[in-house]
Amino acid sequence: MSIIIDKENLIFQLNTPKTSYIMRVFNHRYLAHVYWGKSVKTPDMENASLNRFIGFSPVAKNEYGYCVPDFLCQEYPTGCGSDYRNPAMSVVYADGSRTAELEYESYNVYRGKYRLEGLPATYVEDEVEADTLEIVMRDSVKNLKVILMFCAYNQLDVITRAVKIVNDSDERVILEKVMSASVDYETDEYDFIELPGGWGKERHIERTPLRSGIQSIESRRGASSAQMNPFFAMVGHNTNEEYGEAYGYNLVYSGNFSAGVEVDQLHKSRAWIGINDYDFSWILEEGDSFTAPEAVMVYSAEGLGAMSRTYHKLYRTRLVRGKYRDEVRPILANNWEGTYFNFTEEKIVDLAKEAAGLGIELLVLDDGWFGKRNDDNCSLGDWYVNTEKLPSGITGLAEKVNACGVKFGLWFEPEMVSPDSDLYRAHPDWCIHTPGRERNETRNQLTLDLSRPEVCDYIVEAVCKILDTANISYVKWDMNRHMSELGSAGLPAERQKEMPHRYMLGLYNVLERVVGTHPDVLFESCSGGGGRFDPGMLYYMPQTWTSDDTDAVERLFIQYGTSLAYPTSAMGAHVSAVPNHQTHRVTSLKMRGDVAMSGNFGYELDLNAFTEEEKEEVRRQVAEYKELRTFVQKADMYRLKSPFEGNDTAWMFVSEDGMDIYAGYFRVLCKVNPGIYRMKFTALDPEARYEIVGENKCYSGDELMNIGLVVELHGDFMSKTWRLRKIEKSN
Ligand code: DGJ
Repeated sequence: MSIIIDKENLIFQLNTPKTSYIMRVFNHRYLAHVYWGKSVKTPDMENASLNRFIGFSPVAKNEYGYCVPDFLCQEYPTGCGSDYRNPAMSVVYADGSRTAELEYESYNVYRGKYRLEGLPATYVEDEVEADTLEIVMRDSVKNLKVILMFCAYNQLDVITRAVKIVNDSDERVILEKVMSASVDYETDEYDFIELPGGWGKERHIERTPLRSGIQSIESRRGASSAQMNPFFAMVGHNTNEEYGEAYGYNLVYSGNFSAGVEVDQLHKSRAWIGINDYDFSWILEEGDSFTAPEAVMVYSAEGLGAMSRTYHKLYRTRLVRGKYRDEVRPILANNWEGTYFNFTEEKIVDLAKEAAGLGIELLVLDDGWFGKRNDDNCSLGDWYVNTEKLPSGITGLAEKVNACGVKFGLWFEPEMVSPDSDLYRAHPDWCIHTPGRERNETRNQLTLDLSRPEVCDYIVEAVCKILDTANISYVKWDMNRHMSELGSAGLPAERQKEMPHRYMLGLYNVLERVVGTHPDVLFESCSGGGGRFDPGMLYYMPQTWTSDDTDAVERLFIQYGTSLAYPTSAMGAHVSAVPNHQTHRVTSLKMRGDVAMSGNFGYELDLNAFTEEEKEEVRRQVAEYKELRTFVQKADMYRLKSPFEGNDTAWMFVSEDGMDIYAGYFRVLCKVNPGIYRMKFTALDPEARYEIVGENKCYSGDELMNIGLVVELHGDFMSKTWRLRKIEKSN
């Protein structure tokens, strides 16, 4: 059991292999946060700094003493009381009052992990993998119960948190804010790392020192978004990849989120993450409950690298589900950048033939196969095949593709509707809209209102009908606009602000039904590239299209930034044509291949346009990746050189048993009279020898890590990769 409880003093300690998280009940009332960091024995609480007077801050008294809530490090602070810092929860009671004072009531501890009904979350396969602590808090004046859930993993340095609020009163309560986690720190000596971006430039890393006031990130777009990812880290000023403290926060949620840190007057800091309170409220009638999504918190004393590897392992093994969690992912070719909407059945079959000849295993037909869609102006929602374009239908096309020796995959964008569609003509109120206002379109489309069960049922039926009538092995589930003019025709006026979260619950319900009934299909999520790259989507779909920007140089930034929280096995990464369609840059086929091989490898171009020489290179890449994927998709990733800090990027992957290594070094621009560049490996066995596969050379781990290998790259946009195999212990 990794949870230790001092029942007398009500001290709660969660332990993971290298970390401890400690709380205690103060004055028989408040749940105080005491510590989160490197493993410690239960501390002497006399040493805990829980109470101090501060000018202009109210003092709360009870029979056990006084407390200054504005000073106390709290586990779940509430609004409108006497803690003026950012609250985790805000409510409005039936009488209009907003003060909620949560007092400790009881706890429950058990082996295994809590479940969150209707929401994605990390899981355990055996209850010995984790332990759960539930602490019940209550606002006794209004009989509102708040259950704080904490789970400690026994083999990973992961603490997860979630919150359930139960209205035990006989009156209505309106929730206006429910964070999933809030953590107080005694200092502000940290940097804040976030992953901002936009379309085609997702998850670029920004790092700034904390300052007084609030530093926050959020999405108000109805999706986790490319503009900001629901992840942040607080790290020491000197923390780098290998050294220093790093606290990671990630929300298992795909909708509006808010996260941030507030530095207060005493230079303490409060971090939080949860559903955005912007355009959110939730009515709890008598007996109703509300569950907030899961926050995944990782502490590392060994730098950002170890933090990321913990996230990677957790997500790879205990977030992603289904057979592709453990199986290698197929190498695919997607026709999107090769043909866009301009394809015929013959063209797709030709691509399949070419794919087979190159060793590619799966051909994906992207947008444009349904309704009368020949551009992005129409037909979303009309999920029936365009037989003018594809005379054999999807069933016949899949057969023809399969006959070439490759599997068949298909694109959908089920959450959307085109105003020019049969679906919209039949149900103009099924989209998100505000009566009497213009329905502003993005890419000529509107968002279906997934807060309505009948809309969800339509989507499940329409998608499953296609999946069940053809041999489809893969689905790309796209989503290409954010919500606007928010409103639902299915909800009463007083519940309109529930719509964005109800949409997410509807989406998760749809995904559970579609994915759950098609266990052999590999699902990849997409949102104009990586616009919904979050743990919520990964729970249903093991991989995400990382970005529509397929330029190899841009991908260095995007994949490097994404790897802060998300594993290689989650990142779709394809070789595309040059000049690149997004940046117009021409990079070598070798570099494009090398960058893409650090993710789930594939091609996104017209395979028929390759020269014979290029085909040879592609065959080599495909063969290489078939070997690499046996370990790279599950390997530990080490970031060695950051594209955000210079012209060169390097990273490497070490197999779980330490026997196989794959490393890449990427140079953007060539320098005249360059200095000496060396690839210095890490995490090798210094005593062992390693063969450089294909180069007939051997080096000791010691040499590879400390002296390194000289990197000779001439010309712009170059790369060099190494495959190492541990062969023996040196004497
Ligand atoms: C956006 C995606 O990111 C692209 O890969 C492609 O599927 C298009 N949508 C199709 O409309």
